[in-house]
Amino acid sequence: MEDFTFNNPTKIIFGKGREREVGKEASAYGKNILLHYGGGSIKKSGLYDRIVASLKEAGLTVFELSGVKPNPRLSLVRKGIDLCHKENIDLILAVGGGSVIDSAKAIAVGYYYKGDVWDLYTGKGSADKALPVATVLTIPAAGSESSTGSVITKEEGNFKRPFDHEVLYPVFSILNPELAYTLPDFQVACGIADMTAHLLERYFTNAKPVGLTDRLIEGALKNIMEYAPVVLSDRKNYDGWAEIMWSGTFAHNNSLNTGRIGDWASHDIEHELSGIYDIAHGAGLAVIFPAWMKYNYKHDIKLFAQWAVRVMNVEQKFRSDEETVLAGIAAFEQFLESLGLAVRLDGVGIDESRLEEMADKATNGDTTTVGNFVKLKKSDVYNVLKLAL
Ligand code: NZQ
Repeated sequence: MEDFTFNNPTKIIFGKGREREVGKEASAYGKNILLHYGGGSIKKSGLYDRIVASLKEAGLTVFELSGVKPNPRLSLVRKGIDLCHKENIDLILAVGGGSVIDSAKAIAVGYYYKGDVWDLYTGKGSADKALPVATVLTIPAAGSESSTGSVITKEEGNFKRPFDHEVLYPVFSILNPELAYTLPDFQVACGIADMTAHLLERYFTNAKPVGLTDRLIEGALKNIMEYAPVVLSDRKNYDGWAEIMWSGTFAHNNSLNTGRIGDWASHDIEHELSGIYDIAHGAGLAVIFPAWMKYNYKHDIKLFAQWAVRVMNVEQKFRSDEETVLAGIAAFEQFLESLGLAVRLDGVGIDESRLEEMADKATNGDTTTVGNFVKLKKSDVYNVLKLAL
């Protein structure tokens, strides 16, 4: 097991109707609140009215910045930083999914950063401070409500890049599973693919032995696979959503990478798909992850066979390790397809014309690698993309 320090300070407030407590919770951080949200789903569902009422009841002053798009854009982040300075914002309240939360985090960290906030996302700058961010989650998916990450797209050049730092942990996150009832099928599926990928990125590690977290990740994966069909077929199943929502947060709150080093190549490669083609992150992961598995399973066939048997329920008795792994990957693809997701690039509208460009961008012109379990060079990334065709 690798050495680690684990300190996730995000306070989780979980359960029915708990968004009504947002005013009381937010008032601990000051008077001026920036309410940050997306394209209007929170207005349609009535959540916006409940949030504003709770904030006003607590005597808080509410400023607003809406219009966050999926694959959140740098231009809105810059606007948000200016607004926070102008209105002396004390807390940014993100109401939405990963895109809104990531945009809020970028504004929060950009507020104190002296240069251009994009420097943080390219590794040119570093941060040690951010405005407090709180969240009300409306889609179980990205795990950003309790993570150190933020992923932003710079429109010029279509670069989608992550920034990770402990100052980005939200101060509190409100998780009401009922808020997921209004999600369309496609977003439910993308969210499930994303949280599944967060667990698999952590699972495929070179650290050994890591028995506790192996078992915890396997359990979380099995729980997601059990409840995904429940929430897809019965959108108002509270118990099903409670399992999925908490699994999505738990998958990415860093408790499951304690003692291990995750891979993350699939995420990095997917960011090139979303950056150029503006597709949903979860939809891209459903295509990239099986291809990444096919390209890399020989690196540790025993670990892949363990996953295939324990998680994908492959019967190993009459199979070699390799046959077991391949059956596990096939079962994983079937699971993704059962959610309604494509597992090949053409299913998300991508042909082979820009594979080389994506491989080049992912590896900064073949000067860096992606992934930790196996370090992939540009030619490897290209091969993974080819396997996804
Ligand atoms: O904008 P609105 O109108 O709110 O609509 C959103 C959006 O169109 C809609 N939606 C959200 N909640 C809803 C709803 N529609 C109806 N009812 C609801 N309750 O869903 C659409 C997608 O929202 P988005 O926030 O983009 O989804 P998600 O949570 O999947 O976030 C994806 C983003 O998170 C990043 C991804 O790269 C992507 O940009 N990630 C962030 C991570 C992190 N910070 O730790 C890790 C993740 O792996 C991921 O990379």
